[in-house]
Amino acid sequence: MLGMRLVLLGPPGSGKGTQADLLARKFGVPQISTGVLLRSQSADTPLSAAAQRHLAAGTLVPDEIVVGVVAERLARPDTAAGFVLDGFPRTVPQAEALTELLGSAGLDCVLEFTVPPDEIVRRLSGRRECGACRRSYHLEFNPARADGCDDCGSELVQRADDQPATIAERLKVYASETLPLVVYFRAAGLLTTVPANGSVDSVFVQTLAAVRPAPR
Ligand code: AP5
Repeated sequence: MLGMRLVLLGPPGSGKGTQADLLARKFGVPQISTGVLLRSQSADTPLSAAAQRHLAAGTLVPDEIVVGVVAERLARPDTAAGFVLDGFPRTVPQAEALTELLGSAGLDCVLEFTVPPDEIVRRLSGRRECGACRRSYHLEFNPARADGCDDCGSELVQRADDQPATIAERLKVYASETLPLVVYFRAAGLLTTVPANGSVDSVFVQTLAAVRPAPR
């Protein structure tokens, strides 16, 4: 089965990025991670400098900036068969903007990952990523080889927002700004909740089972 328009919702560390990568390969569509897109931007204009300050603080980048970044990305031809949106939308205004951007094509479904708070802290504090190609690892669950990234050999680094105080802020922001989207997408008949506390492979089996293509 190829082609799919998916949104992944879930708190920091719930495995959105990990599962988005697997889903994107499975369905032959691009993974669009707003966190990755925003972190890769330079801070050389007042707007992009403001975005980088939000990333460092664990607060949300303003809707108008993020919607602009996503609109630009969705306009590229590789999204014609679909996409996996990882970390967008994160507010009700972003969800409304997405509905407008997609028009009649709409979404197939929205998957909400749930993970207990202590597991989230364990996952985020052990996460390391390659400083060059950004491949993600976990010190305990998914370690890289001893001398660096398995793919390119570069040094692994800890994300600046994976420090305990910033993790706490990101969880608070998720509860206040993003959780309302669970009600929003459930009302639209698009939401399925996936308990995401097992291994990566077992969560992927449950995730695939939860994917519901929209009637075409
Ligand atoms: P973003 O980069 O999207 O971060 P996040 O939502 O906080 O999510 P994470 O990347 O931390 O976690 P994840 O759920 O993807 O889990 P992962 O698979 O990596 O956003 C960062 C910032 O950008 C935001 O704070 C905000 O400032 C800004 N931003 C982004 N989007 C925005 C938007 N739409 N609006 C406004 N601002 C926005 O897994 C985590 C770790 O656990 C990894 O080490 C992984 O290997 C491990 N792991 C994954 N699954 C499992 C498993 N099943 N078992 C064991 N370990 C696992």
